[in-house]
Amino acid sequence: MTAKKLYLRSFGCQMNDYDSARIVDLMREKCGYERLDAPEQADLVVIVTCSIREKAQEKTFSDLGRIREIKKERPDMMIAVGGCVASQEGKNILRRAPWVDVVFGPQTLHRLPALLEKRLQTGRSQVDVTFPEIEKFDHLPAPRCEGATAFVSVMEGCSKYCSYCVVPYTRGEEISRPLMDVLVECAQLAAQGVKEITLLGQNVNAYQGKGVDGKEVGFALLLEYVSEIAGIERIRYTTSHPKEFSDRLIAAYGKLPKLANHVHLPVQSGSDTILTAMKRGYTHDWYLDRIAKLRAVRPDICIATDFIVGFPGETQEDFDETMRLIEEVGFDASFSFVYSKRPGTPAADLPDDTPQEVKLKRLQHLQAVIEANANKIANAMLGQVERCLVFDHARRGEGMLSARTDNNRVVNFVGDASLIGQMVDVRITEVFPHSLGGELVQKEG
Ligand code: 5AD
Ligand code: SF4
Repeated sequence: MTAKKLYLRSFGCQMNDYDSARIVDLMREKCGYERLDAPEQADLVVIVTCSIREKAQEKTFSDLGRIREIKKERPDMMIAVGGCVASQEGKNILRRAPWVDVVFGPQTLHRLPALLEKRLQTGRSQVDVTFPEIEKFDHLPAPRCEGATAFVSVMEGCSKYCSYCVVPYTRGEEISRPLMDVLVECAQLAAQGVKEITLLGQNVNAYQGKGVDGKEVGFALLLEYVSEIAGIERIRYTTSHPKEFSDRLIAAYGKLPKLANHVHLPVQSGSDTILTAMKRGYTHDWYLDRIAKLRAVRPDICIATDFIVGFPGETQEDFDETMRLIEEVGFDASFSFVYSKRPGTPAADLPDDTPQEVKLKRLQHLQAVIEANANKIANAMLGQVERCLVFDHARRGEGMLSARTDNNRVVNFVGDASLIGQMVDVRITEVFPHSLGGELVQKEG
């Protein structure tokens, strides 16, 4: 019998990428599905959706329209919708797209095989977007990794309720996996050859997992434990919250050399008025203080962030405060977007009279300044020897490999394919807009 075929498409954040990889594993191990790169021959199409901004949400429905055309030719094909739009919209998805067979949420993805089965038995579309706490991790196959990098989810959800954000409603409140579960998973991955682990969570530094003695363990201590695992050479995490960027976490940068020299710490705005309206729980100066303390222990750490430009009520003065913060911190990169009104969030009711063109102009200006700074940082790397993890063949160039520096930049260089998955030293020789060029210095002995 030929294997059934699965086509999966994932939008949005790394949590969705992580969930998607788990869905592929689950459907392969429990139901024998093989993954395809295109939907035309699929028996099952899974769309993992994102609702963080309106544009992302609308992609779900345009995608579903396209899949419907294929289903007309393949009536037995099943369509499942997961992720945050599914969680938020639930049954409404079936109203807008009645050809969908199963709607599941971020916390019920492990139930997908049973939901598909029930769909077949009853002939009715199935919806399960409940939040059965952390049950999902107990029902997923052990992670299989390909290559030397892996993601490990340590906590889920968010209890911050920033006034613009849907995440607490779509993914639920913060919930952490027990310490031992995380450590066992990391150790299993290390045993399979993983050298770099990225700990994942919506607010990963809010981690509060149960330790072996039943007492809660915070994120800084978790990092210390992961750092003890033999074979793991580099640890990253994403994404963190300034409010929980504790002194203990900062101190970890002083004592754990495996912690990457790069942090993603979303600030959203540099204006105290806007930060209050966003319910972020910190000020411009608090953020600066965290960065100063971090740089005191890791002077050359690179800092990436997120900005929302044009939040309701943002004046030119507020925006100037954001630009001042950018100047003060010298960010290395940012994910920045114009504010998108999300139904059901408190900010959706705020008056917003800044014209969209003004918001777009602000965004472009902000992005140009950060890009220039990123360039400056890259140029300062010229001539330096960087410890890099080789992750793949380069997308372009015969005999070229791609590796990631400690400060999270991609560097391409000539090297033998046997180096993929190894840590190597690369001298930086060229700077391109979004990558670096280099030459191999030596292979790990
Ligand atoms: N509009 C624009 N950007 C948003 N983000 C979250 N909600 C919104 C919204 N309503 C951004 C924040 C967050 C990132 C994941 O998405 O910057 O850090
Ligand atoms: Fe959304 Fe704020 Fe939670 Fe981040 S911290 S997921 S922006 S509510």
